[in-house]
Amino acid sequence: MLTIKNKALKNKQVNEKSKEFFISEINRLKKEMNAVLLAHFYQEPDIQDIADHIGDSLQLAQAAEKTNADVIVFAGVHFMAETAKILNPDKLVLLPDLNAGCSLAEGCPANLLQKFKDKYPGHIVISYINCSAEVKAMSDIICTSSNAEKIISQIPMSQKIIFAPDKNLGRYISKKTGRDMVLWHGSCIVHETFSEKKILELKLEHPKAKLISHPECEENVLNNSDFIGSTSALLNYIKANESNEFIVATEPGILHQMEKICPDKVFIQAPPEANCACNECPYMKLNTLEKLYLCMKNKTPEITLDNEIQLKALKPIQKMLEMSKK
Ligand code: 13P
Ligand code: SF4
Repeated sequence: MLTIKNKALKNKQVNEKSKEFFISEINRLKKEMNAVLLAHFYQEPDIQDIADHIGDSLQLAQAAEKTNADVIVFAGVHFMAETAKILNPDKLVLLPDLNAGCSLAEGCPANLLQKFKDKYPGHIVISYINCSAEVKAMSDIICTSSNAEKIISQIPMSQKIIFAPDKNLGRYISKKTGRDMVLWHGSCIVHETFSEKKILELKLEHPKAKLISHPECEENVLNNSDFIGSTSALLNYIKANESNEFIVATEPGILHQMEKICPDKVFIQAPPEANCACNECPYMKLNTLEKLYLCMKNKTPEITLDNEIQLKALKPIQKMLEMSKK
């Protein structure tokens, strides 16, 4: 009979073997299908390591816009893969798990945003990319956390703005640019979970550590932060900053890249309010190596879109891509 220790060892060996199998099959299928694998920084480390492009929402949209591949395999969440499909309506876009949604996108249905819009005539709608294709189709410009400030600064002061769906990013950008915007009250279930009290305790324990936060965090966390930025901006900051210790208030998937870029620095996850793993994005973590392999092997699940929505949603995304270059 196997002891518990031996059983655990055997399971680990089986897992390692299946991991090797999935990775070699994914690489083989990539060539066979002429596919490009795009992965977000919140994906599990093994997925990040086999991606052709890894990035934040803007970098992944730019990679999707430029690709010559026939198939886009998206290791991220639904709105990211949908953006890739809007930019490439004739390509096959695969997402390993169609349930990989986003609380921000789910909290802003198009019919309710329409009612909201109706209350504010004369306003343009700037939507954070974390929204559905239907919401993009009724927006004037899309933005991400890495270009929101740049985009909003290009809008004439006299133009009134509705910003949807993230109230935390909206409030933060509003403060930075001095623009008064009407905010849709959505939030990210991951970034609203960080505890200011526990973060302050951590700061006392690690007085030299810099607190770095994603702008989706609540205002009280942002107010205590040494640096605020998108996932790629956080990576640039830890690389350039002379500090050796950082408290990281965003989804912990990014620690994999941080540790790769700066192996000698220390990265501490900002703690959530409850004793839970709720700082992990449950949607991002639905993707696994196995599902990635299966979606490529079976060419499903794929992202499909209504033609009219695709055409309408394309305009504000293209506007974002143009305005990001300025
Ligand atoms: P970034 O564009 O900063 O990577 O953000 C994506 C996201 O979903 C953050 O929760
Ligand atoms: Fe959406 Fe938050 Fe997950 Fe990002 S971390 S995908 S904003 S739920």
